[in-house]
Amino acid sequence: MYEYAIAWDWLTFAVRWLHVITAIAWIGSSFYFVALDLGLKKHPALPPGAYGEEWQVHGGGFYHIQKYLVAPANMPSHLVWFKWESYVTWMSGFGMLCLVYYAGADLYMIDPAVLDVSKPVAIAISLASIAGGWIMYDLICKSPFGNDNTRLMVALYFILVAVAWGYTHLFTGRAAFLHLGAFTATIMSANVFFIIIPNQKIVVADLIADRKPDPKYGRIAKQRSTHNNYLTLPVLFLMLSNHYPLAFGTQFNWIIASLVFLMGVTIRHWFNTRHADAGKPTWTWIVTVILFIAIMWLSTVPKILTGEPVTKLSAIQQPFVEAQAFPKVRDTIMGRCSMCHAKEPSWEGIIAPPKGVVFETDRDIAAHAREIYLQAGRSHAMPPANASHITDEERRLLVSWYENAVNGEKTQ
Ligand code: HEC
Repeated sequence: MYEYAIAWDWLTFAVRWLHVITAIAWIGSSFYFVALDLGLKKHPALPPGAYGEEWQVHGGGFYHIQKYLVAPANMPSHLVWFKWESYVTWMSGFGMLCLVYYAGADLYMIDPAVLDVSKPVAIAISLASIAGGWIMYDLICKSPFGNDNTRLMVALYFILVAVAWGYTHLFTGRAAFLHLGAFTATIMSANVFFIIIPNQKIVVADLIADRKPDPKYGRIAKQRSTHNNYLTLPVLFLMLSNHYPLAFGTQFNWIIASLVFLMGVTIRHWFNTRHADAGKPTWTWIVTVILFIAIMWLSTVPKILTGEPVTKLSAIQQPFVEAQAFPKVRDTIMGRCSMCHAKEPSWEGIIAPPKGVVFETDRDIAAHAREIYLQAGRSHAMPPANASHITDEERRLLVSWYENAVNGEKTQ
């Protein structure tokens, strides 16, 4: 059923749209609150229990915000919570993981030259690593080791480096980066769900019951919220990295990912210091630029191929290669696409296969049949600006080849 390919594509669009919108809402509100928090001014006329205040102007009005460090003396009648931004970002992100990486595990997740596993095993590794990551992180934070914030952050950084290395030894480079992002983002969202919001609820329950809330709950939430703050920028890089094969598809991809985490810290540190009115730490930008140059340099080392390229076809791929039209399809792809979509592209200005999409073997073509159909058959997205002059007749050939193969028809 070719309708399935179209519906699937739009479904991934809808979930991705939701994911981006909720992520903007989540990151936007959390960056706002971090900046607000750092910029609070103390003065003697504040009401009892208030820690600091800030005046802001936005959209034609003035806002006067006061922060109560543990809690106000009485429960306000109306209280706004910030949690769904985070929860829906996680849920839609998990949806994307299922739609793109689990459903397309053969293509996007499993690289038999890295680890030859079946689809269910790859999915199990993915789920276990993401859930296990949160459990491990949470235990470390709660252990006595977590009492020293700096020591904790340094240890967590080295854990992330190990995880980056680990993922690149389990999955394709693209999936490895995405998983490192999902691993980190799950920790962030779980911090909100399991720690920050429940602690806040304990404080609210205390207020309602006229008990004095324990300040430790706020302190713990603040520690987790600080981690989230420093992890945000690297997660964004990792989530967008699939557009950049030079990041994920080169030999030292795991070192690149590790340096991205450091850049996240140096960039955030500049803003955090500025918002706290504590000077201008220009050195953070110098370090950021050095890290960025190091990343660019590392990305010039090509991936060393181990083992033979895989040519074995899966049951889903077989009909595309067995189709009568296949020889012509192959000629079309080789003639109109492979100048860019090759391990070593010959098209001027393209140095790595765009989005990691390579068309060299019959299996490559069969594995990407749906993408070929959507990008070059049904739509005119590929070749870009029709750079390689594909004809309408060739596009029709790609469409009928795909549709016939998925409908199980033997075109005679
Ligand atoms: C002139 C170079 C060039 C040619 C020729 C070309 N592509 Fe591409 N292709 C690109 C670039 C650049 C991208 C990445 C676009 C982006 O990042 O959004 C891309 C991306 C893709 C993707 C991934 C799209 C996605 O969003 O995941 C597919 C699939 C693809 N091309 C298929 C084809 C097919 C099929 C042909 C031949 C009919 C073709 N391309 C010809 C340059 C080319």
